[in-house]
Amino acid sequence: MELIKEIKTMQKISREKAVEKKTIGFVPTMGYLHEGHLKLVENSVKENDITVVSVFVNPTQFGPEEDYGEYPRDLERDLDLLRERNVDYVLYPAVEDVYPEGYATYVQVEKGTDVLCGRSRPNHFKGVTTIVSKLFNMVKPHRAYFGQKDGQQFLIIRQMVDDLNMDIEVVACPTAREEGGLAMSSRNKYLSPQEREAALVINRTLQKAKKWIEEGERDGWEIKKKMEREIRAEPLATLDYASVVSRESLQELGEIKGPIMIAIAAFIGSTRLIDNVWLEVK
Ligand code: PAJ
Repeated sequence: MELIKEIKTMQKISREKAVEKKTIGFVPTMGYLHEGHLKLVENSVKENDITVVSVFVNPTQFGPEEDYGEYPRDLERDLDLLRERNVDYVLYPAVEDVYPEGYATYVQVEKGTDVLCGRSRPNHFKGVTTIVSKLFNMVKPHRAYFGQKDGQQFLIIRQMVDDLNMDIEVVACPTAREEGGLAMSSRNKYLSPQEREAALVINRTLQKAKKWIEEGERDGWEIKKKMEREIRAEPLATLDYASVVSRESLQELGEIKGPIMIAIAAFIGSTRLIDNVWLEVK
């Protein structure tokens, strides 16, 4: 496994691999890897000749009051985990090289970015689509792997890839969970044992909502109200949103139909957690 810090070096390798007719699978991450990230890595290693994983905590997707400075980092541990999974290259660029002085270009998807997480994190998805485009230009992958856990992020990236004719297959992988159902996240590290217990309310509520829909409920506002009630009943939780949205428009649904996502974001103590469930409703 090779650690690559220079963007130009990565681009040279990608070009060479293309000439050799090797397929490149790519897993973008912000590091501090857990089993959820590693599932994406395993899928990429299985499905491609070469796998590249990037580790880059992207400043442009964090708001001014958010945890960019404190975001957990442990490169050595990440490298060990990736080596064990037979990754070929780890791209670890410096912030000054990714966003040099005078940097002025952003990629913005204009659908679904101002709802759900976009409402409380106004420039977040602009930062995500910008860095993902840049990383795609560095790595030139055939396939790129994302987690369903960040469902809105996946759907926005897929929209970007389609709209900009990026010749990349984007693959969504199921959410990896802790025992008890809590979605794995690098931010779970911030939770006290008590908060970790309280955080279970998020997935528990999603599972209830799924059941209500499976039992025939089709009123999105009713499900929303009931989910909000569940989250508010947990003293350590502060609700950001609980929504039933279309996976095509990302808009909230009055009548539940088609490919949908039930999504929740809540603060547990001061840690913001998200989770979601996907359903096909006839
Ligand atoms: P990060 O939060 O490090 O996540 C990297 C990838 O791992 C994302 O595609 C995310 O959806 C996936 N992932 C995280 N937790 C998961 C879980 N429990 N199960 C399955 N997949 C999971 O998402 C980002 O980084 C950044 O926004 C990035 C796309 C790298 C752009 O900076």
